[in-house]
Amino acid sequence: MRKFVMMCATLLVLAACSGSGTGNGDGSGEGKPITVGFSQVGAESEWRTANTASVKAALAPPEFRLKFSDAQQKQENQIKALRSFIAQRVDVIAFSPVVESGWETVLREAKAAGIPVVLTDRAVKVSDDSLYVTFIGSDFVEEGRNAGRWLVEDSQGKSGPIRVVELQGSVGSAPAIDRMKGFREIVDADGRFRVVRSQSGDFTRAKGKEVMEAFLKSEGRNIDVLFAHNDDMAIGAIQAIEEAGLKPGQDIRIVSIDGVRGAFEAMKAGKLNATIECNPLFGEQLAQLIRDVAANRPVPRRVEVEEGVFTADQAAAELPNRKY
Ligand code: AHR
Repeated sequence: MRKFVMMCATLLVLAACSGSGTGNGDGSGEGKPITVGFSQVGAESEWRTANTASVKAALAPPEFRLKFSDAQQKQENQIKALRSFIAQRVDVIAFSPVVESGWETVLREAKAAGIPVVLTDRAVKVSDDSLYVTFIGSDFVEEGRNAGRWLVEDSQGKSGPIRVVELQGSVGSAPAIDRMKGFREIVDADGRFRVVRSQSGDFTRAKGKEVMEAFLKSEGRNIDVLFAHNDDMAIGAIQAIEEAGLKPGQDIRIVSIDGVRGAFEAMKAGKLNATIECNPLFGEQLAQLIRDVAANRPVPRRVEVEEGVFTADQAAAELPNRKY
């Protein structure tokens, strides 16, 4: 009998410690962990690797239970992952959409299941804005503008036409669309620049190198500037430029986006002229948003991360401070 009473008492204490059963997401750190389904774009770049590490570190136990899925840069994989998160009834879905469009149906399924969606890094185009709660990431149009502004500034005293080639990010992705838009806005207004070739390098080094080789074949030595939508493609292109017997950073000036360590090393070596920062380290901010969303607290519709612009002359001093 004494044994039975003790057992009941223990069960009561355990029940009290585990909260009410609906206590997840109250932000107190008590109760059930918040289960988050996170669908990542892939592992295509140094930036992405840093972003994944930041998200995994922030969405860690005991507060969070993370279900992580790598889409290998394919929208169909992401849609499958989202559907499986819905079936598992996670508390919150967070994802970085590979492309901008084609999300209406699956997001409507999440909404019908009562699962809030947080967009990370990349935006979506949907007719119904209530299909996601909030977005955290960068202003890609501004990043493109910053690349254009750097180029205009660096071209002071030069007369046109200045021939530019552009390595775009993945076709249909928000950063590719927005960075191109921001860059063109600035260089078109200046009037001296002519974008002579523009093609996707899918945000990878290998593709960046391959497409740059094709640019060099068709344009010969008539390329003055390379604008790459990310550092990885620029680093691949630098190899192609060197193999063609040209000096990257001198014969062809290069500006790219992200600010990864590899870009700072290339700038230090004089092979890259400038990188526009795109900060992937928003894991902690994302965790706070998720806490708030899970607890039904109001959140801003859009949270932007802070970013800078770095040029080759700052590379040696900045390199030791880089966190990704
Ligand atoms: O969406 C952010 C972009 O995606 C980064 O600039 C790029 O490196 C990544 O692959």
